[in-house]
Amino acid sequence: MATQLLFVCLGNICRSPAAENLTRHFLAQRTDGLTAVCDSAGTSGYHVGAPPNSRMQQAAKQRGLSFTGRSRQFDVSDFERFDWILAMDRSNYRDIVALAPTPTDRDRVRLMCDFCRQFSDTEVPDPYYGGPDGFDYVLDLLTDACDGFLDFLAQQS
Ligand code: 4NP
Repeated sequence: MATQLLFVCLGNICRSPAAENLTRHFLAQRTDGLTAVCDSAGTSGYHVGAPPNSRMQQAAKQRGLSFTGRSRQFDVSDFERFDWILAMDRSNYRDIVALAPTPTDRDRVRLMCDFCRQFSDTEVPDPYYGGPDGFDYVLDLLTDACDGFLDFLAQQS
């Protein structure tokens, strides 16, 4: 079965849907046959059912991309369904590992920025309360992180 990837942020309307959609896009471009199934969730239930944020959609559109999905809240059962869980920031990471049933499950939770090779950021900043530049920055940062993560995944197999 294909590797199952879950990207997690707070609201599941800005960062994690961007990571999910970008990763899917990069997977389709790869020539090494790497496959994975991508999903995303939020640690909060603030925006359950909502599509990706319109400002994130706008930033994606400027790059020729279209982001799909509906917000849902992270659930402990996600540890059974997913092989890797990628947290956007440390707060998300803490909230997820607090629910990990076993130490092995905890090891499958990683910080997205741990896979950056060009950016030195350690967290994906929350763009929700800032201006449009923040969304563009998140897309640049996630491009680096998601690409790095897929190379990591390719090395695992
Ligand atoms: P996200 O951004 O976690 O990247 O989806 C946010 C979206 C909504 C809120 C915070 C962050 N909020 O507080 O409603």
